Amino acid sequence: YKDLLDMDKLEGKEIELILETAVSMKEILGRPIKKLPTLRGKSVLLLFYESSTRTRTSFETAAKILGADTGNIAVAQSSVTKGESLLDTARTLQAMNVDLVIVRHSGSGAAQFLADELSASVINAGDGQHAHPTQALLDFLTMKEKLGGFQDRKIVIVGDILHSRVARSNAIGLKKLGAEVVLVGPPTLLPPEMSYLGVQTSYDLDSVLEGADAVMALRLQLERQQSGLFPSLREYRELYCLTPERLRKTGKETIIMHPGPMNRGVEIAGELADSPLSVIEEQVTNGVAVRMALIYLLIGGGTNSVVD
Ligand code: CP
Repeated sequence: YKDLLDMDKLEGKEIELILETAVSMKEILGRPIKKLPTLRGKSVLLLFYESSTRTRTSFETAAKILGADTGNIAVAQSSVTKGESLLDTARTLQAMNVDLVIVRHSGSGAAQFLADELSASVINAGDGQHAHPTQALLDFLTMKEKLGGFQDRKIVIVGDILHSRVARSNAIGLKKLGAEVVLVGPPTLLPPEMSYLGVQTSYDLDSVLEGADAVMALRLQLERQQSGLFPSLREYRELYCLTPERLRKTGKETIIMHPGPMNRGVEIAGELADSPLSVIEEQVTNGVAVRMALIYLLIGGGTNSVVD
């Protein structure tokens, strides 16, 4: 592949290859000196039109560990503010001969657009409501480590499904890996058309928790909601906030996930986020390993036997 834009083109065995490569990369993260010459001479450019803490920092860290040169386009200080189009920005990047562009954009399809325009590889770091494949892959690595695999594992994803690129990429990938996926949210944030994903949906969190191996809470994306929040924040909390009491309904040791950034007390109780069941910090660590794997696989030459 030249690019990573979403989960839909990847087969289950290709996802497994990425996860295996990420496991090798994780060993490097445990070393006292974390620096490889593998990608010396390669250039990676970060182009973030939306804010990010985890994704941008972990991509930059990953590229640097692998020895690549990195550049950051701070969109707020770039010529985008003077009206430069994405196409002209793409042409400018093309002229700089970069090897890999990592892009986050509010427009669904922006990463695909850049990939079509550029001979460089493109990784989608989140485009609108469409896809966030690297988040899904780091979630899969975390689930694999904690749950031992995906077959017959029940994964409940709860929250603002409608606006969530994380939910969409997770649902597509988890289905390919053989997991049972349940998407849960209020009807306004889980409209009937979400059934195109081919996974179970529910408006009633309490009724689907039994037997869940992992529960992932999603942030309410107020910035993407055009007509205000319905139900109200208070109602949302009452019905969908993950709390210790609610979690007991799973009847087993369930791991708690959240892609971040979290709104404590809205979609997840602070005490649950900080509890031993929470794997939220492991997700962040795995983000660096997965992004190292992807950068390596896309521009580092291919097989996963790299890393010695
Ligand atoms: N999960 C995630 O994409 O976080 P950031 O917005 O901080 O990158």
